[in-house]
Amino acid sequence: MTQAPASAPDVFDALRSPARRDDVLGWWTEPVRELDDGSWLLTGYDAASFALHRPELVSAAPREIDGAPDSVLRRPGASVLLFTEPPEHTRLRRVLAAGLTLDPAPFAAALGAGLAVVADRPGDLVADVLAPALDHALGSLLGLPDEQVARHRAWARHASDVLDPGASAALVEQAGASGLRAMVDMTRTLRRGAGGLVGHLARAVDSGDLDEAEAVANLVSLISAAVDTTVGLLTSLVLHLDRQPAAVSVLRDQPSLHEPFLEEVTRLETPVQLVTRRCREAVAAPFGTMPTGANVLVVLASANRDGAVFDRPDTVGLDATRPHLGYGAGLHRCLGAPMARRYGAAALPLLLRHWDRFDVHAGDAVARRHPVFRAHDSIPTSPRRISR
Ligand code: HEM
Repeated sequence: MTQAPASAPDVFDALRSPARRDDVLGWWTEPVRELDDGSWLLTGYDAASFALHRPELVSAAPREIDGAPDSVLRRPGASVLLFTEPPEHTRLRRVLAAGLTLDPAPFAAALGAGLAVVADRPGDLVADVLAPALDHALGSLLGLPDEQVARHRAWARHASDVLDPGASAALVEQAGASGLRAMVDMTRTLRRGAGGLVGHLARAVDSGDLDEAEAVANLVSLISAAVDTTVGLLTSLVLHLDRQPAAVSVLRDQPSLHEPFLEEVTRLETPVQLVTRRCREAVAAPFGTMPTGANVLVVLASANRDGAVFDRPDTVGLDATRPHLGYGAGLHRCLGAPMARRYGAAALPLLLRHWDRFDVHAGDAVARRHPVFRAHDSIPTSPRRISR
């Protein structure tokens, strides 16, 4: 294990550090480690998969693991899916899943329009292409205008920034204020009536399947769950194509490879690089007993490179589908995975079609510094004068 971490804060530090976060991908060579502060670090595929399937391991945000007092995701009477357990989790997940529609057309239309813009003038792939496309896709999913989604996306960013235990006090305060604004705005919208998922949840409130606070908290948190992750997948996809120009022509010629390619980018880049749990009771695992109250850090990014499971783990393998943990597993497996896969499947052919029309300035790309999200905040582009 390169630069073995000694404690949970050290794990967070490695994951957010531009200099260390690629080292993390090699941590699977020591698949299980009990750290000096009593937390368990699981980096091998089997250990990670075991942990994700055990009901005694409950979600605990990184801030809580770090002993920080307040998590903006936890509010009394407003349970967010990821932080609930059955039977509450079963009920919430059923109601939310029934309202998630999978139409990729709004996303594809907005993405195509954004790509035309960066083919025409200097721009940024995140700000000018991906963010507006996701606003439009989520607007259509939720039943809200794009501008309202854009406002919520900015608020959701504050909430996800302070998932990081290293967030400053000022940021935590700002996130509290943003969280409040988001809740008030979403409550008004829910009461006023809307279409899409908001309308679906309003009806669930009317029929007593959900209370209003649950509907609002889950709508607000869904925006963060959908955007931070999908931006990670799509920025990784673009940087990957930029590094591997040969892949562009192969993928243009063979659309049947799009799906395995996207799964491999998800495995290799793992947009949610870390998930965190706490043992509600002692868990006897094949690798040792994790005591009641122990914090558990499951590094999906390392598990997805486990050389004991994946042949040539650091390269794209298109021969067979290689099941990975990029969307988690078990009770809290990603509810939006089918949607994320459709976004990817819609984005790849559009990127391939527009690829010769703009340059990606990968050297100037700005990686997000976050222990959970592996993504880029900015990828500058300029119109391409000579075709590749
Ligand atoms: C490439 C994109 C995405 C990736 C890599 C991703 C990854 C993940 C992962 C790893 C988890 C498990 C978290 C844990 O176990 O602690 C998760 C959960 C979740 N994801 Fe995603 N996600 C993506 C897109 C989305 C989208 C588009 C949505 C919504 C539209 C979404 C909604 C959720 C929700 C609600 C949960 C919590 C599920 C539960 O607790 O039962 N995700 N996601």
